[in-house]
Amino acid sequence: MILQGRLLASADELPRPGWLRVDEGRIAEIGDGPPPEEPTAGGADAIICPGFVDAHIHLPQLDAVGCDGLDLLAWLNEVIFPAELRWSDPVVARADLHQAYRRMLRAGTLGYAGYLTSHHHGVVAVIGVAQQCSLRSVVGQVMMDRYAPDALLINPGTHDHAGQADRPGQPAPLARLAESARGRLKLSVNPRFAVACSETLLARAAVRAKGDIFVQTHLAETRRECELVRELFPDDPHYAGVYDRHGLLGERTLLAHCVHLDLDQWRLIARRRSIVVHCPTANTFLRSGLFDLDAARAHGVRLALGSDVAAGPDTAMPRVARAMIETAKVRAMTAPAGQSVHVPTPGEVWTMITRGNALALGFTDMGRLVPGAAADLLVLRAQVPIDRHLIGRLIYTWRDDYIDAIVLNGRLIDPNGS
Ligand code: GUN
Ligand code: ZN
Repeated sequence: MILQGRLLASADELPRPGWLRVDEGRIAEIGDGPPPEEPTAGGADAIICPGFVDAHIHLPQLDAVGCDGLDLLAWLNEVIFPAELRWSDPVVARADLHQAYRRMLRAGTLGYAGYLTSHHHGVVAVIGVAQQCSLRSVVGQVMMDRYAPDALLINPGTHDHAGQADRPGQPAPLARLAESARGRLKLSVNPRFAVACSETLLARAAVRAKGDIFVQTHLAETRRECELVRELFPDDPHYAGVYDRHGLLGERTLLAHCVHLDLDQWRLIARRRSIVVHCPTANTFLRSGLFDLDAARAHGVRLALGSDVAAGPDTAMPRVARAMIETAKVRAMTAPAGQSVHVPTPGEVWTMITRGNALALGFTDMGRLVPGAAADLLVLRAQVPIDRHLIGRLIYTWRDDYIDAIVLNGRLIDPNGS
């Protein structure tokens, strides 16, 4: 397959007219100028770029967007847990998952890290969907055993995705099945957040997370949540310390939000090389706070960007990227005189939603236009001038219908198809 268009290979250079050949799921060859044969997709006026990657999304929450007026804890109780209870029916879970995959594809998201519900059959369903649609996934069953409706709690003995035994180093049956999903699905361990996890459950999560398994959780999203964690874990020095005591902070730990951290927690997270997932649209929607990008940068913390649907209203990662810039601009405008605030450029945030997030999730061959890279690509037709503001223009005017074609794992797919 040949794709023709301007190749948006780097946020620092104007995309040059060219083409690329896709073979067996990879970019096999790249050339300048007109293509050697009739292109399968694109054209002289198209732009070709890597697919987007979302580092934090809740797949059962896509229909819960926009239920406004509540803070995090009230919103979870009144909106989110009822939405997740719908998955008690495996048919609903499967249909919602298909729909979530379709919506992500339509928005150009070709890789993600995310959460299911606490239902075991959700994991079975996501493996089934992944066998049909090869979106790159790091995804796990939610673990919680308190502060939620009984039907969403995992109790000792409940069947969950690690299988019957919590033995590290031995692939459970579902993990083996996941590997069969074309190697593009990795099951993660997802203790929801310390509020909803007892000591026993956190210890089980840690056993399961041994090896090269990703851990996904939430940390310090709102002040009230932080106060509750202080009450629930009075002997720990701070919120991040609860996870650390259980050995849950590692290089493959994705910590969503991190809005209310003190110096000690930033230092700890930096030392552990855990990844902080900034979720700017969600932080605004729930009025959780303004993420301190400067603190993250000052401590050299690894950073990724997430939509956090449904707290974040937008599935499209360019919109989340725009919100990252806007959050930094609000901080810059409200900072005391003399305090410098870094406002990321459109190029920086574009790199983050492509190559940056791909690397954070371990998709090392994704997010680049070079021979040998994975052919997870978007063909855009955006009526915007090609000049030094191109990426800013794309981010600030983004519409999903800019996507003309999608190449997923080397195959051309219709973004509007089923
Ligand atoms: N903290 C715990 N669970 C959730 C969730 O589902 N969404 C968000 N935004 N924060 C959470
Ligand atoms: Zn979340």
